[in-house]
Amino acid sequence: MNDQQFRQLLNRFGLSWDGYRKVRKGVKKRICRHMHELGCRTMQEYFFALDQNKDARQDCERLMTVSISRFFRDRGLWRTLENEILPAIIKGNKKRVKVWSAGCACGEEVYSLAILWHTLGGCFQHMPELQLLATDMNPAYLNKARIGIYSRSSLKELPEAVRGRYFKRGGKKQIYAIAERLKKRIVWQGHNLLADPPGTDFQLVFLRNSLLTYYEDELKEPAFQKVLNSLTQGGFLIIGAHEKIPPGSQGLLPFVEHPCIFQRESG
Ligand SMILES: C[S@@+](CC[C@H](N)C(=O)[O-])C[C@H]1O[C@@H](n2cnc3c(N)ncnc32)[C@H](O)[C@@H]1O
Repeated sequence: MNDQQFRQLLNRFGLSWDGYRKVRKGVKKRICRHMHELGCRTMQEYFFALDQNKDARQDCERLMTVSISRFFRDRGLWRTLENEILPAIIKGNKKRVKVWSAGCACGEEVYSLAILWHTLGGCFQHMPELQLLATDMNPAYLNKARIGIYSRSSLKELPEAVRGRYFKRGGKKQIYAIAERLKKRIVWQGHNLLADPPGTDFQLVFLRNSLLTYYEDELKEPAFQKVLNSLTQGGFLIIGAHEKIPPGSQGLLPFVEHPCIFQRESG
C-alpha cells in the first residue's frame, strides 16, 4: 500500500496523516493482512468491500487503532497528579470521586491511577469511594486490560518497590500480572469517543494520545467539546505530552503546574 492509498483510507475515517506519522508502517501491515483475509487484491476492491460490509468496516476501523502505552507514561505528570491534583480532589470530594480514562488501550494508564490512589490511601484518614471508568473502542484492548498481564517494557517507568507491591511476576518469562485488588474498582466499557460521553460529573478525565492525536479537526473539535462537558465544574482534564487543546475550546483553563493539565472553569 502506498502513502496515497493510506491517506485515502485515513480520510474515510476522518483520521489524521500527521497523527499516524510514527506508526504508519505497522498499521499499513495490519491493513494489508486484512485485505488478504477478505480476498481483496487491490485497494479499490478493499474500499468496495468496506462499503458493502459493515463488519469489515468495523474491523478495519479497529485495526487502525494504536495501543502504545506504558505505566506512568510521562513520569512528571504523574508526580503532579500525586502531589497536587489527587490530594485536591480527595479533599474536595468526601463521598466519591469519578475518573474517566478515555481511550484506555490495554489498561496501563488506568492501573497507574489505581496504584496512585491506593498509595494515597496511606496518607489520608478518609478516602472517598473511587469510581474508575475505562473506555476504548477496541474490544480486544479492553479484554487485555481486564486480564492485566504486561511485558517488562510496559513497566519500565515503575520504581522496583512499586513493581514488587502491585505486580506478580510470572515464571521464567518477563511478564507481570497486576494485583487483583486493583481491579475491583474499575469498570471497563466499549465506547467511541466520537459519540456522547459515557457519564457526567467526572472530577478527572484522561484524554491522552487518542482523539487529539489521531483525528482530523472536523471530528476532533466537536468530540473534544463533548468530553469537556463530561467534566464537573472545576474538574481536571489531562492530555498527552505532544498534544494541544483544539483552538476555540470553551471554558478550560491551563493548570500552571503542568502543561498537560487543564481545569474546567467553575460557574
Ligand atoms: C495510543 S493509545 C493511548 C493509551 C493511553 N491513553 C495512553 O496515553 O497511554 C490510544 C487508544 O485510543 C483508542 N481510541 C482511538 N480512537 C478512539 C475512539 N474514537 N474512541 C475510543 N477509543 C479510541 C485506541 O483504541 C487506543 O486504545
